[in-house]
Amino acid sequence: MLYFGTPVVLVTTRNTDGSANITPMSSAWALGSSVVLGLSDNGQAVPNLERERECVLNLPSAPLWEDVERLAPLTGRDPVPAAKADRYRHVRDKFAAAGLTPQPAETVRAPRIAECPLQLEAEVVSIEPGKEGGFQIVETLVRRVHAAEDITIPGTQHIDTGRWHPLLYVFRHYFGIGERLGRTFKAET
Ligand SMILES: Cc1cc2nc3c(=O)[nH]c(=O)nc-3n(C[C@H](O)[C@H](O)[C@H](O)COP(=O)(O)O)c2cc1C
Repeated sequence: MLYFGTPVVLVTTRNTDGSANITPMSSAWALGSSVVLGLSDNGQAVPNLERERECVLNLPSAPLWEDVERLAPLTGRDPVPAAKADRYRHVRDKFAAAGLTPQPAETVRAPRIAECPLQLEAEVVSIEPGKEGGFQIVETLVRRVHAAEDITIPGTQHIDTGRWHPLLYVFRHYFGIGERLGRTFKAET
């Protein structure tokens, strides 16, 4: 596998019965207001996104890694697909399983995760199968951004990069980030 190091995203989606699911994932990238996700066909996120066409992309900070890892062996899929049956178990209430708190979103029906300092409410604009098979490429458009006050620069719409500590997933190990090395010529802060 080629998990060279990307932020962890906790994708919240709505199940058919109105309950919420949390899918930990890290194959995500952002450009403009778009965020593109790579999600396995074996999980609960893809059917939920196909049906509901919306989600919240919750970004945990580094200290939340153990909460994320509590979610790691779980699936919202029932029954558990054969390919996952030996290592995963079905759990309906992943908020309770991880000790996380649901918080209503403003533009979508899936809840936000209160403990995540950055929460992106998004609509699904396309879902295309990955050419290799086994996963979908989900393109989302972010409609609302919530950033905790303690990671923003007061009076601005900017994130204080000195105080935002994303959780990174690097070849199946969790990391925080190190010291700032510098800034690009286009940085506004
Ligand atoms: C840190 C982390 C990163 C992961 N990244 C991805 C990913 O990018 N895409 C994916 O489909 N699964 C990823 N997984 C695996 C899913 O979380 C796993 O299949 C889980 O059962 C999905 O839950 P669900 O079936 O309720 O959606 C990741 C798991 C962890 C713990």
